[in-house]
Amino acid sequence: MTDTAQLRRRLADDITGHGLTEPAWRRAIEDVPREVFLSDAVFRRGQDAQGVTVYRPLRRQEVTADKWLAMAYSNETWVTQVDGIDADNATGPVHGLPTSSSTLPSLVVRMLEAAGIGEGDRVREIGTGTGFSTAVLCHRLGDDLITSVEVDPAVGARARRALHGLGYSPSLVIGDGLNERQAGVEFDRIVATCSVRSIPYPWLWQLRPGGTITTCLGGWMQASGLVHITVQEDGSATGRFTGEQTAFMLARPHQPPPRLTFTMHSGVPRPTGLDPSRLWSWTGRFLAQLAAPSAELLGAGAQVILLDTATGSQAWTEVDGSGWTVHQRGPLPLWDAVEHAFERWERAGAPEQDRFGLTVAEDQRVWIGDPSGPSWLLPS
Ligand SMILES: C[S@@+](CC[C@H](N)C(=O)[O-])C[C@H]1O[C@@H](n2cnc3c(N)ncnc32)[C@H](O)[C@@H]1O
Repeated sequence: MTDTAQLRRRLADDITGHGLTEPAWRRAIEDVPREVFLSDAVFRRGQDAQGVTVYRPLRRQEVTADKWLAMAYSNETWVTQVDGIDADNATGPVHGLPTSSSTLPSLVVRMLEAAGIGEGDRVREIGTGTGFSTAVLCHRLGDDLITSVEVDPAVGARARRALHGLGYSPSLVIGDGLNERQAGVEFDRIVATCSVRSIPYPWLWQLRPGGTITTCLGGWMQASGLVHITVQEDGSATGRFTGEQTAFMLARPHQPPPRLTFTMHSGVPRPTGLDPSRLWSWTGRFLAQLAAPSAELLGAGAQVILLDTATGSQAWTEVDGSGWTVHQRGPLPLWDAVEHAFERWERAGAPEQDRFGLTVAEDQRVWIGDPSGPSWLLPS
């Protein structure tokens, strides 16, 4: 294997520039050869002639060895599977959504830092993917303390080969990491490199009191928030969002059903005082997703379209003179819910996401300020 020590050091420097502070994670980034986890092909995102997003496979043999290594050791996410098609097997461009990747290394270590992982912690990772983050965990804590779960058997098998090839032998499980439980093992940390719409209860049951879950809370509007919650003595869990702008692909069981064909209906129009473009900010989109969790968000700028996948309800906005008009149709008044959420948020001082928190008990609520503040129920 080419000596990539210098490239690995440069990547570690780059990640340090992105906020990495713990020397132990830095040493892992300097030592783990990421190119081994990229296999022989990755996808590059582009646009087709119609301007639609497309993923084109790029094979190792199509570029020079130096170029491939520069890609592997760049602080970039490399998509390795789109709609279940592995880059290795793709015969041409693929339209669809990424379903597996080697995540941005700075994001991997940021998650691990946010999880507060220390020596001796037993960690369960959800979303093995290429296995790179699993190797980083093994490097720091030792194989015996690491379990990683991957839902896709082919992805899991490839990660296993890469990990074993480098001499790492964590416990690797193929299965749904949202439900899969390991009998008789109690973990200190659960870290998910796929996001969830709500916290799977089996995660709480596998942690000791004081154990933590670090995950991105995502949803169907593609909004996200990195949250770190701690399991209490009574089995509930509570904690705060870090406010960092990080996102992972949604766990497969939490992905939306196929999108309905959108036909714009005039519906019931009314003026709205909420500038629709506010839904595109990090916190604004998150708030809208909390308010209407089964809706997708489409459109751009002041033309926002909310489309509820469960009921077909829709709401869309348009500029009207110096203000905006919203048109709503269907059993769920989506815009009313979003507008109401923004009103409550403004009354609470319009804080950014780092003032939000999450409590998981019999139900799951995202709140502002503290658990008695304005709150929204997560989908079950
Ligand atoms: C962003 S990738 C993981 C990146 C990986 N940690 C790395 O460093 O390469 C997310 C992975 O989560 C997996 N995944 C999705 N839903 C899952 C589930 N319910 N249980 C386990 N893995 C899941 C996907 O198949 C995908 O491989």
